[in-house]
Formats: sequence, structure tokens, C-alpha cells
Amino acid sequence: MSRRAVIAGNWKMHNLQKEAAELTNGIMSELKEENKEALPEVIIAPTFTSLYAANKALKDCGCGKVRLAAQNCYFEEKGAFTGECSVQMLKDAGCEYIIIGHSERREYFGETDEMVNKKAKAILNEGLVPIICCGESLAQREAGVTDYHIASQITKALIGLTKEEVSKSIIAYEPIWAIGTGKTCDSAEANRVIGMIRKVVKGLYDETTGEAIRILYGGSVKPNTIKEQMAQSDIDGALVGGASLTADSFAQIVKGAM
Ligand code: 13P
Repeated sequence: MSRRAVIAGNWKMHNLQKEAAELTNGIMSELKEENKEALPEVIIAPTFTSLYAANKALKDCGCGKVRLAAQNCYFEEKGAFTGECSVQMLKDAGCEYIIIGHSERREYFGETDEMVNKKAKAILNEGLVPIICCGESLAQREAGVTDYHIASQITKALIGLTKEEVSKSIIAYEPIWAIGTGKTCDSAEANRVIGMIRKVVKGLYDETTGEAIRILYGGSVKPNTIKEQMAQSDIDGALVGGASLTADSFAQIVKGAM
């Protein structure tokens, strides 16, 4: 089965509205000559306050080559949850995908596997696509518990989801020690862990579901690393942080995945 490649830019806490609009326009300008069908699924994830500006730039362009994601959501539909955004609100803002369980949210904001699972359900219930992040710390890698930890994160994230829901979801394997450090995980090793994740999904569901789910690598992805990463059998794309903040480097990564 062939899986469509995905290149997603996680802007993290960067870009005011004007900058978000400029970056969005810059990316679309870089991709102007590319045939839409030949492109991977290209996703940008601005911070909440810049979603409107990015969505407006996407709509004004109308080329349909780039899609919008949020970096987080809350799993309840509405109510007294000061400071949170529901999936429905993010859908209303133009989002088609939502990143959940990013290691920065787990580390700094106490996001647990149980919350990730509730968020995944809420996202799928609204017809959006969750980008479920997982990854081990350096200490876990050195202790030899990488596979156990990742398998546990994924198993817990998927509790109660149907085959159909899992098939259209996206997982991002982001080793924490590779995020923002310039220390990219060796491509063969990233492929091995991603292959292991695919086996876990096959074990929980079936062969077809495991073959359908897209699994990305994230952690210091750069224009000069993407080709080797995309050449791996199980890596379906990339979740890009730092290198998604300029149109030129993000577009190079997108083109490197074609
Ligand atoms: P960097 O590409 O900056 O390492 O960030 C990766 C990441 O955390 C994407 O979600």
C-alpha cells in the first residue's frame, strides 16, 4: 500500500499575525510552480492567535496546496475551561489537523497519555486528523527502554479508537533528544522505531490498519536530511520545528519529500 507523504511545520510559539501571514504567503510562493498532485500533504501549525492570519492567507491564495493545523486542543466541547480551545473552535478557525502529545506539552504542561487519548477521540469525532506525538528522552534511550516507552505511549493514545479512525490518524515519532538540538536521529534507527510503531498498530488492529497509518519522523529535520529520511521504508514524512520557520527551508524540505 502506498501512503501519501506528509510534511508538517510546527511553528511552536513563534510568529505574530503579520509574520504568520508572511510566512504562509512565502511558503505558497515557493511552491507555486509545483503540481498539487505531486506534492506531499503540506501542513502548517501556527500558534492559536495566528491561525486566523494563516488561514486567511491560505484562502486568499486558493491554491489548496497547504493545510492548517493547531498545536494543541482541549477534549471537552465547551464550558468553564479558561484558556482552552475546543476542537470545534479550531475547526471553525480552519484547522484540519491537531498536534497532540508533543513532548513539550507533556514536559511543561503536564499532558498525560490519558489526555492524549481523550484529545484524539475528540479530534476524530469532529472529523479532524490527530497528529499524535511520541518519543523517548535521552535517559530512556540510554536505559534501553525506548521501544517499551514508545509502544506504551502509542497503545494508550489509541485506546477505544476504531480501525477506520486509526487508519486516517498520523503519528509523529520525535525522540526528545533530537528536538531542537541539531542531533538528528540516524535515519536507519528512526526507521526501525517507526517500523516498531507500525507493528504495534498491526498488533492492536490488523495488517491493513498498520499499513495505512502515516508515521512521521521529527527532530532536527533539515533540507539536507529529508531525502535520506524519506528513502526509508517506514518513514512517511516529517514534523519539522526550527526549519519550518523560514519559507525557503520549509519549501526545500517539502520538495525533498517529492
Ligand atoms: P526541531 O525540528 O526544531 O528539532 O523540532 C522538532 C519538533 O519538535 C517538531 O514538532
